[in-house]
Amino acid sequence: MHEANQLLLHPSRQVGADLYAWFAAGGGEGLNAALADPAAIIPLLRDAGLRGMGGAGFPTWRKWEATAVAGTPGCDRYVVCNANEDEPGTFKDRHLLRWTPHQVIEGALIAALAVDANHVVLYVNPHQEQAIAEVRKAVGQWRGSEPLGRLEKRLGRPLQMEVVATSGRYIGGEETAVISWLEGNFPFPRRKPPFPAESGVAGAPTLLNNAETLANVPHILRNGADWYRALGLGEAVGTKLYSLSGDVLQPGLYELPMGTSLQSLIFDHGGGMLEGKAFKAVFTGGPSNTLLTAADLDVALDFDSVRQRRSRLGTGAMIVVSEGTSIVRRVAEYIEFFAAGSCGQCPPCKCGTFQMARLLDRLDTGHGTVDDLRALQNLCRILPGSGRCGLIDGAVTVVESSLHTFPQEYGLARA
Ligand SMILES: Cc1cc2nc3c(=O)[nH]c(=O)nc-3n(C[C@H](O)[C@H](O)[C@H](O)COP(=O)(O)O)c2cc1C
Repeated sequence: MHEANQLLLHPSRQVGADLYAWFAAGGGEGLNAALADPAAIIPLLRDAGLRGMGGAGFPTWRKWEATAVAGTPGCDRYVVCNANEDEPGTFKDRHLLRWTPHQVIEGALIAALAVDANHVVLYVNPHQEQAIAEVRKAVGQWRGSEPLGRLEKRLGRPLQMEVVATSGRYIGGEETAVISWLEGNFPFPRRKPPFPAESGVAGAPTLLNNAETLANVPHILRNGADWYRALGLGEAVGTKLYSLSGDVLQPGLYELPMGTSLQSLIFDHGGGMLEGKAFKAVFTGGPSNTLLTAADLDVALDFDSVRQRRSRLGTGAMIVVSEGTSIVRRVAEYIEFFAAGSCGQCPPCKCGTFQMARLLDRLDTGHGTVDDLRALQNLCRILPGSGRCGLIDGAVTVVESSLHTFPQEYGLARA
């Protein structure tokens, strides 16, 4: 791995909850730079080109700006770090929080300064026991610390820092479900608008970012936008935590320049295919996205390049499958996961995911009929947009992609 590009997982940052070891490794300098000129924070993130790492790749500065201008001066405002991370194939936030929680917290504190928030919530999946334990210790170390005191002075009011265990449910990671949970309710997603920036926790403007997104922030403040942009390859900026899993020799979490090719991730870093098996496909960005095949190995793994292949980078999860794996079976398993994870609020989502899982199972086990296949294709047409959140759309995306990419596995002729 190219050391200069290890922005987040560099060994010097893996100091656990020890705040003074974090400061000794250069931590705190991002917050100092932010305190010196709070008005420059959001324009700096815009110039750096930082985008959301929680799946959608939304420009971070836009959300920050929307939260900063929402509400009235001095009203309650929240910054929430989303570390629910419950989707199969994504395993980055838990490592960030376990090994280097302070860079995430420092990013959240800089966010609080930028949007004038008086609440910071670290929303962490309790199934990641070590991660949540480290975050609790780390937050305890910031409380009463001198840098936090300077931040509160600048804010002109106390800053509440809280660690909240999530429901541990997949749906609990969706941003409006996060808000419901933080208000003490079941994590039911809500319709948008209003977006959290306008009306989030208890109606207060709320900035919600993924843990990896926030982890980048102190480094950008400390080193500048040009430095950050130069870490990426080609047009891409910064680095990315790729969760590589499946039929590769060395599955794991890889921090590489954003824009690293799929070929390089699997074959240079991941050691190639397991037991010399042939590469068949990769589920990009986790199970709610699309499949890429051998023809796409050259794709640069950044938001825009992956989108040009009609796919999405998502969280940066890459689940590799080899020849001999049934795509229909794998998709059936993912749809079962979504069916179990659907909150049940929107009947088309709950019933549609169960129905798709049933049809996929019949088709995979040789019990499927032409009518089953038609029913599956029909569901792909009618279900998108029928839920309050993106769960059903993600589930349909992977089914559609498998039908399009591997029609022969469904007994269909290639288009
Ligand atoms: C069903 C569902 C589950 C989600 N789970 C997570 C999650 O666990 N962590 C996360 O950061 N974002 C998750 N998201 C995306 C969030 O709604 C939100 O877009 C994200 O936290 C924003 O952070 P970012 O702008 O830094 O990417 C989920 C979205 C959906 C539709």
